[in-house]
Amino acid sequence: MTPIIPTFAPLNATTASTKTDAVVFMVSSAKKLDADLAALDKKCGGIISTAIDSAAFTAKKLSTLSVHLPKAAGVAFAVLVGVGEVDKLTTLCFEKLGGKAVGELNKLRAKSATIIAAEIKSKKVNAGEQAARIGSGVMLGSYYFDKYFTTKKEDEKPSLTKINIATSALKSAQVAFAELKTLADAVNFTRDIITEPANVIHPESLAAECKKLTKYGLTVKVLGVAEMQKLGMNALLGVGQGSTKESKLVVLEWKGNAKQKQPVAFVGKGVCFDTGGISIKPAGGMEEMKWDMGGSGVVIGLMQALASRKAKVHAVGVVGLVENMPDGNAQRPGDVVKSADGQTIEVLNTDAEGRLVLADALWYAQKFHKPKMIIDLATLTGAIIVALGSSRAGLFTNNDALANQLTSAAEVVGEPMWRLPLGEEYDKQINSDIADMQNIGREREAGSITAAQFLQRFIKNETPWAHLDIAGVAWSKKSTEICAKGATGYGVRLLNQLVADHYEA
Ligand code: BES
Ligand code: MN
Ligand code: ZN
Repeated sequence: MTPIIPTFAPLNATTASTKTDAVVFMVSSAKKLDADLAALDKKCGGIISTAIDSAAFTAKKLSTLSVHLPKAAGVAFAVLVGVGEVDKLTTLCFEKLGGKAVGELNKLRAKSATIIAAEIKSKKVNAGEQAARIGSGVMLGSYYFDKYFTTKKEDEKPSLTKINIATSALKSAQVAFAELKTLADAVNFTRDIITEPANVIHPESLAAECKKLTKYGLTVKVLGVAEMQKLGMNALLGVGQGSTKESKLVVLEWKGNAKQKQPVAFVGKGVCFDTGGISIKPAGGMEEMKWDMGGSGVVIGLMQALASRKAKVHAVGVVGLVENMPDGNAQRPGDVVKSADGQTIEVLNTDAEGRLVLADALWYAQKFHKPKMIIDLATLTGAIIVALGSSRAGLFTNNDALANQLTSAAEVVGEPMWRLPLGEEYDKQINSDIADMQNIGREREAGSITAAQFLQRFIKNETPWAHLDIAGVAWSKKSTEICAKGATGYGVRLLNQLVADHYEA
């Protein structure tokens, strides 16, 4: 659970003999040995250079080769990680290199390692940033959720517990890492709360988790059912009324910039468990719906990230926390509810609940915070997985500039998305025969778009707004260098990057 937090040390010719189980070297496609690697190679009679020259090692980006060293080396393994073409290296590449090293070291059952972050000549990323990014990759890549294992043996757990990163730019690496660490902590926190089962993380306990974030300087306000009833938030409340857990709306505010009167707002779907309600889901796979609070998990982690790095931004996060349960008091298909902004909704399918929660949460954010921009995140539709699979989130927005900002931030952090259309022809699909709108389309087609149209009906005055449907990306069945299978935390690094690029100062 606790990821490895790397330490940093100066780079010098003796680093390679640091008392760790393994040393990791980055090797570019030119296959040139840096000073440390050459020194170690000499100590062990040239077996490292022989291995590097062999066909077994391509030096392509993220290729690896591990060499078991003789006693004379003073360290058991040299792990070579290819970096490929140096000119193409971005900050994300260095993060992946750090994560890749963690994976290889665990395969070798190494307990500790030194990563030699000798400067790779790069126009884009300086030496300190390189080492810091490797460190960030170590933190993201070593995360795993083991809280509930009680009988696992040591040899079934990851072996690695300690990483030291050697760099020629120690000071700047440490400064850069201090900030990246706060971000990695926030991503891993998001992963934790998304992974927790629904008997542990439910509306009440998640609201309590949010309360704890006041320690970062966030103001955290929690509204319960009575307060929301007063505000007329019946769309959200209808979803939670079949649950024994009290529905909550949590508002997290970070005032990191006194000059910004209007905040940027992030709104998250927090359905802590989605049974579908009376329109109940089939049993197979229903357990996945514990992560239907993924959107709110991201918003909560993002707010922690912004506060803990003292971002110069005024930001507000609003999360609607409910549990969608079937029960004697649950809402029925065909019920009509009036949302807080006065629009009426015919609930034709109680399983299309996320949009009901978001309708009132979006209203709240606009009514009380007058944001200059709103982004919502939600595991909203199965249809987005059909359309885009599990590698990209679906992006819907009323603003081209915001689309561009998001798409470029996505590229930087490696959390990609794809824009889908909005339009009148889709919007009319959600007109109801009895109310202002219905919560599912008249046809089954374009399910993610009709869901987005529904949300757009709650955006006032053309406020720049984007909706990210993260149903396909919030959880992954495959591991990558910087993300073990399970909750990904997709969106925290993305929106942190967006804020850093466009909404600070
Ligand atoms: N939480 C689900 C969407 C979902 C499905 C997320 C699979 C992750 C994986 C959402 O509340 C839902 O049930 N949506 C329905 C909408 C339908 C009833 C119009 C869906 O996608 O089937
Ligand atoms: Mn549902
Ligand atoms: Zn749902």
